[in-house]
Amino acid sequence: MSVFTYRDGVMHVEGVAIPAMATQVGTPFYCYSAAALRAAWREFADATAGMNARVCYAMKANSSLAVVRLLGGMGAGADIVSEGEMRVALAAGIPAGRIVYSGVGKKPSELAAALQAGVGQFNVESAAELETLNAVAGQLGLKAEIAIRVNPDVDAGTHAKITTGRKGDKFGIDIDLAREAFALAGRLPHLKVAGVAMHIGSQLTSLDPYRGSIARVRELIGALREDGHRIERFDIGGGLGIVYRDETPPSVADFMATVRRETDGLDCELTFEPGRRVVGEAGILVGEVILVKPGAAKTFVIVDAAMNDLIRPTLYEAWHEIQPVREARPEAAKIRCDIVGPVCESGDFLAQDRDLSPLSAGDLIVVRSAGAYGAVMASTYNTRPLVPEVMVDGTRFAVTRPRPSIEAMLAAEWLPPWMEPLKGS
Ligand code: LLP
Repeated sequence: MSVFTYRDGVMHVEGVAIPAMATQVGTPFYCYSAAALRAAWREFADATAGMNARVCYAMKANSSLAVVRLLGGMGAGADIVSEGEMRVALAAGIPAGRIVYSGVGKKPSELAAALQAGVGQFNVESAAELETLNAVAGQLGLKAEIAIRVNPDVDAGTHAKITTGRKGDKFGIDIDLAREAFALAGRLPHLKVAGVAMHIGSQLTSLDPYRGSIARVRELIGALREDGHRIERFDIGGGLGIVYRDETPPSVADFMATVRRETDGLDCELTFEPGRRVVGEAGILVGEVILVKPGAAKTFVIVDAAMNDLIRPTLYEAWHEIQPVREARPEAAKIRCDIVGPVCESGDFLAQDRDLSPLSAGDLIVVRSAGAYGAVMASTYNTRPLVPEVMVDGTRFAVTRPRPSIEAMLAAEWLPPWMEPLKGS
């Protein structure tokens, strides 16, 4: 059941009418449904009940403090890729022991901060990182629990920019070289080898790539045990897809059943790092039509949300559903249009060639499935303030990150001390 529904012809998020939020917050803004977040999280919690498994929410999808707090309150661990994400996770109350630190390039200062905080697992992606982590842990008199991320060389069948598990991708250690890396890790005194990790890509809509790569890692785990390593954990990564248009991603329950089958008898604690599947469908981006510009070939609907607020259409040719906040009359004629932002780039569009009933200045529109990789990838390009975030819970809503004022943006910039004021100003 969707939490984004028309009531009396006006789209609501749970019990809150979108125009009421737009009046208070201004547009554009992101809005997240607490009920949808809880429901998505519960699917993972229910599907892993009784399994020796933990679910670490991949914060890169949406690191809003309120979102992370809500998920942490339901028992989520966190998968992080920076010191910044670690600080948000800790501020949200997620215990350090439930944090997995992923990423291909962690700086020594970041590793030190994570070691000092007590982060539970470091997913290491190169021999160089093994050496650095060992050295940093040694300086601090600590021992780091690690998994080594291997690249199983499978094609996840997803967009080229978000596939990660093929030879030639920068991620993980080539599975054929993994035994050497484990041997090195075993010799380093400040590392405790705990397991193997993988993550093969994002927005996967088939379970086959998971099956294929789990089989390969399973074989590796056997070889590593023969080599004398204690492999207690297997981190399967994230990647489960969501619905943007007409995709039919597997249910979380089916995904878990497959993983259970493929890992049967392996005797490992499993880790999952879902991001998009937890937050993607729970969020929308709301914008307002600035003007409509009819053209010879098609009509441009120019809205106040742009590529700097949601870059997925521009970057990945991603398709997001666009809906009017005031429900269109079913008999209204449709016109072919591009929904575009005001940014000075031809690539600044939210949707192209859509047949929508006519919109006019002042109308509100909604971009669906924008909860993942939306606000977190926003920028201030064209000196547009970062888009604010709002959370709805039942009939309540609250701004969880306000729109910075232009004054605040200006105050965050410094002139070199030698620059004189312009004459006449
Ligand atoms: N674990 C690791 C190591 C990852 O690199 C990622 C995502 C995840 C977990 C979470 O994957 P998810 O469950 O969200 O698919 N900006 C792109 C997606 C980039 C994904 C990067 N890694 C997009 O908007 O489609």
